[in-house]
Amino acid sequence: MCFPHFGKTALEATNNFILSLTLKEKAELVAGSDGPCGGSIAPIPRLGFGGLCLSDSPLGVRDTDFVTMFSAGITTGATFDKSLIRKRAVLMAEEFRAKGVHIALGPVAGPIGRSVRGGRNWEGFGADPYLAAVGCRETIAGFNSVGVQTTIKHWIGNEQETMRNPIISNSGTTTDGEIVQQAISSNIDDRTMHEVYMWPFAEGIRAGASHVMCSYQRLNETYSCENAESLSGLLKGELGFQGAVISDWLATHSGIPSIKAGLDLNMPGGKLSPYFANVTDWQDADTYPSIDPSFNEWKSKSSVSTWFPPVPPGLELQWKMGAPAYRDVRKDHGKFVRTLGAAGSVLLKDTGVLPLKKVSNIFVAGNDAADLSRGQVGTDVSDSQGPEFGANAQPGGSGTGRFSTFVSPLEAIKARMGSGLTQYILDNKVIAGQNIDSVFPAPEVCLVFVKSYQTEAADRLSLSFDWNGTAVINTVADACNNTIVITHSGGANLMEWADHPNITAIIAAHLPGQEIGKSIVDILWGDINPSGRLPYTIAYRESDYNAPIVNLTNVTDKNAWQANFAEHLLTDYRHFDVRNITPRYEFGFGLSYTNFSLGPVFVSKTHREERSAFANSAPTSPGGNPGLYEQLATVRAAVYNTGKVGGAAVPQLYLSFPPNSPEGTPLRVLRGFDKTRELAPGKCEDVRFILTRKDMSYWDVIASDWHLPNGSFTVNLGFSSRDLVASNKISFR
Ligand code: BGC
Repeated sequence: MCFPHFGKTALEATNNFILSLTLKEKAELVAGSDGPCGGSIAPIPRLGFGGLCLSDSPLGVRDTDFVTMFSAGITTGATFDKSLIRKRAVLMAEEFRAKGVHIALGPVAGPIGRSVRGGRNWEGFGADPYLAAVGCRETIAGFNSVGVQTTIKHWIGNEQETMRNPIISNSGTTTDGEIVQQAISSNIDDRTMHEVYMWPFAEGIRAGASHVMCSYQRLNETYSCENAESLSGLLKGELGFQGAVISDWLATHSGIPSIKAGLDLNMPGGKLSPYFANVTDWQDADTYPSIDPSFNEWKSKSSVSTWFPPVPPGLELQWKMGAPAYRDVRKDHGKFVRTLGAAGSVLLKDTGVLPLKKVSNIFVAGNDAADLSRGQVGTDVSDSQGPEFGANAQPGGSGTGRFSTFVSPLEAIKARMGSGLTQYILDNKVIAGQNIDSVFPAPEVCLVFVKSYQTEAADRLSLSFDWNGTAVINTVADACNNTIVITHSGGANLMEWADHPNITAIIAAHLPGQEIGKSIVDILWGDINPSGRLPYTIAYRESDYNAPIVNLTNVTDKNAWQANFAEHLLTDYRHFDVRNITPRYEFGFGLSYTNFSLGPVFVSKTHREERSAFANSAPTSPGGNPGLYEQLATVRAAVYNTGKVGGAAVPQLYLSFPPNSPEGTPLRVLRGFDKTRELAPGKCEDVRFILTRKDMSYWDVIASDWHLPNGSFTVNLGFSSRDLVASNKISFR
């Protein structure tokens, strides 16, 4: 049966569709239902509506088969490459669409990475609002170009996993019981809310995010999914968000109060809500691929099905599920993942040993070099270190998926070495126990692979490498004078061994996805010159970081869990800069096999006239007052490759606000970055950055508006947040 045509535009079609619904049908649409997908909206057979399929994850289609597992958000952020971010989104969206998923549950705008131990920091693009905003914008634009809806998440202040949900009296599996211990409350002041946490959401909404997922925890003591101030005020009011607010899974704790506050869709199902918000793209229902039945089959097998059941028996035909099952939607996307994984690898140290030239005898050490050993599903929250054997290509939780193919580092290195000697010990216990005598004859190069597992539902227990990784590194380094350490982690780790004289190179390869082995081989042998940059700071010691996870024991007060965001705007490098703490490797840092220099910085104003302190008021459109995105200045500079091999540079713009800006203003904030094309030795490229009114304003809590300060801004350009090699001044009033 063809789906009836309800109107010409999405809005018209939606309104007409709603008019044709009974009250019960409306309620069912917004309540979620049992069904084939991670989130399902039940079909309405009398109208030919075949249901909607919502699915994780932010790095590829979850809970199905024959799909590509792309690099995680943090790896993608580390590329500092807008076109790669966009292309990743387009290819992922093609797979979501071809599998029949209507609504993708990503990208991640928060957690942004306030706390270094945050268990989910790796799902987003990095610990800076501007970088996260570009990541969300490019991702959403990419998905939109393929006609797949997105869900930017988790609104808002979802910065720790510990106690993210309340403790509920009856069992903890439904939202119906009595709350005996309230979830953590993220207590965020107005200015911080705007300048840090809302920033990436604003950019994502401006780019056309279809949905916003409200988060588990409380915001200023009210549950995020029933916080009227934030949902109706900030999100729908100030940011002009026109789509639906979807609850995180079981994050709804009330019916009517949540609806009144601004929640539109309760997931994954439960309370009926006599309320309806926009559902776009339904006029496309005839051409949209059917839902691959393999989602439903997998769900029937999997342990989550007791909570979120599959399609009730007998109702399969109502769903727009259809052949072929086990649809292979990967095309050749793996090739792109290989490039992306390499582009998100950050070269932290190199004494000149890389790229590898002719190597005839290599030693590969560590369980992170191994193939998968406990199945192909990323999710495993039961073990704080994750699986013992297996390269950490993606960690755990809903932000992962099932590998259809996987190339381990060892496999790729063996292939690259061909007839050369590849020696290896994968068992960390053996290496940490200093039993490496079997390695003979002495290798020319020793590659140590260590990993650090991170997962949803738990914060990190330490910043060390798992499975005794530090001992593994030290054992190999003590024995081998050309030791190269490769880390697979979704965030910062302590690297006490970094200055060991035998450690000649370090690569933070992040979470590259299914081609993990090939991506690192491309970097090691120089087929790709590293251009990744750190999207967070690596400190010398953990106490250098601020904003630790709140973790209480023996609590009796029901309301005890409070996270006061007292560092305000000083997240990550902004804290290190203001407190003058020297990081081991700073935000934005990354080496290359070549060197770059920057010419002078030219700054030109877009308007001759002075600019007013506040944007003219205008009807709000998605992203907020359009006047905030008025272009105020253009910054230009030339980047030169001064080294001996080709490579791409990543110039970065950090803005210092005028000295009379309000107290608490960071010393510098990222407000632009670009990746040049591959520059041959001696060649240069002109880079250009646009600064908008919002980029150059602070949130004025008295005026409740973005305020362009008078006085002189300093525009700093360089190759990291600490390597600022050129600057210029500009003022508007
Ligand atoms: C996560 C969301 C995810 C949802 C559905 C929740 O536990 O917080 O990010 O989209 O589950 O799997």
